[in-house]
Amino acid sequence: MLFPILLLDDNLHISNEDTSAIKVGLSPFFELENLNASVGRLEGKVALVTGGANGIGAAIACHFAAHGARVCIADLEDDAGRSVCQSIGPLASYVHCNVTIESDVSNAVNATESTHGPLDILVNNAGIAGPPYRDIRDALTDDFQRVIDVNVRGVFLCTKHAARVMIPRNKGCIISIASTAAVRGGLASHAYAASKHAVVGITKNCAAELGAHGIKVNCISPHAIATRLSMPYLPENEGEGEAVAAFENFVAKNANLKGPTLTVDDIAQAAVYLASDEAKYVSGLNLVVDGGFTSVVNSMGMFS
Ligand SMILES: NC(=O)c1ccc[n+]([C@@H]2O[C@H](COP(=O)([O-])OP(=O)(O)OC[C@H]3O[C@@H](n4cnc5c(N)ncnc54)[C@H](O)[C@@H]3O)[C@@H](O)[C@H]2O)c1
Repeated sequence: MLFPILLLDDNLHISNEDTSAIKVGLSPFFELENLNASVGRLEGKVALVTGGANGIGAAIACHFAAHGARVCIADLEDDAGRSVCQSIGPLASYVHCNVTIESDVSNAVNATESTHGPLDILVNNAGIAGPPYRDIRDALTDDFQRVIDVNVRGVFLCTKHAARVMIPRNKGCIISIASTAAVRGGLASHAYAASKHAVVGITKNCAAELGAHGIKVNCISPHAIATRLSMPYLPENEGEGEAVAAFENFVAKNANLKGPTLTVDDIAQAAVYLASDEAKYVSGLNLVVDGGFTSVVNSMGMFS
């Protein structure tokens, strides 16, 4: 079984064509047999992935399906979302959903269940960064609110409606995508940093409530990956040459762990782990995927 995988076009939208488009995944195709982890880690499970039409969410949907899950993608971008579903095949479906609108969210949960069966896994991935304001005096309050609406209200609403169907069954798994901006200051706008701190907060609080119902609740905090969301944050004086390469060079220059480049596939693999039974006793965790970036301060020169 071949999965055409995760190419970004010039507008940083997913494209299926094997052209010179910007490649986000490590290979244009991956084969189930070649996955070095055991295949089928999510066999028989049903997942809802918000923001699965692009970037990290699309990678999560593809990896979940490769591991045997049936996946519903919920997004605003219908064409992109349906195109990811087509790549995956019959294990995937698409539903239009604005995560800030409660009736959309309720409908997305219901649509997932009527298409695929009882919901096992929710991935709260939909998010926006807002403009990369570098001076608080320029920051528009409406922009602040938009980021909080999608990144915090959206996570709250999706968690609420997933819990609605998971609590009576006494099982389930909720994963939210936070950010290294939830761990250290100075990595994004105030709105984004505040929203991602809130994602970690709601994760811990929901783990406290929903643990009694057998539902594990975790989040993943990725470091910077070149997607449509993150690219505008590249400082202007670092923006020479091809955009994705410039972004990755900038991240590599400031990385703690030298060598590997963080990709959407790495975050998808972290999500597969948290969603799988291998993580059956993991809850309340913020799994930081950053090569140690937020754990170390090298500016004192101890090891240089
Ligand atoms: N790219 C990074 O460097 C990075 C780092 C840390 C965390 N994250 C987080 O990862 C998640 C995915 O980001 P990405 O980089 O893949 O971005 P992206 O822009 O490529 O994808 C985000 C997706 O969310 C969808 N979306 C936006 N608003 C929505 C709404 N109101 N309702 C439904 N869907 C909506 C978009 O249509 C898009 O498909 C976000 O939560 C982001 O904050 C990204």
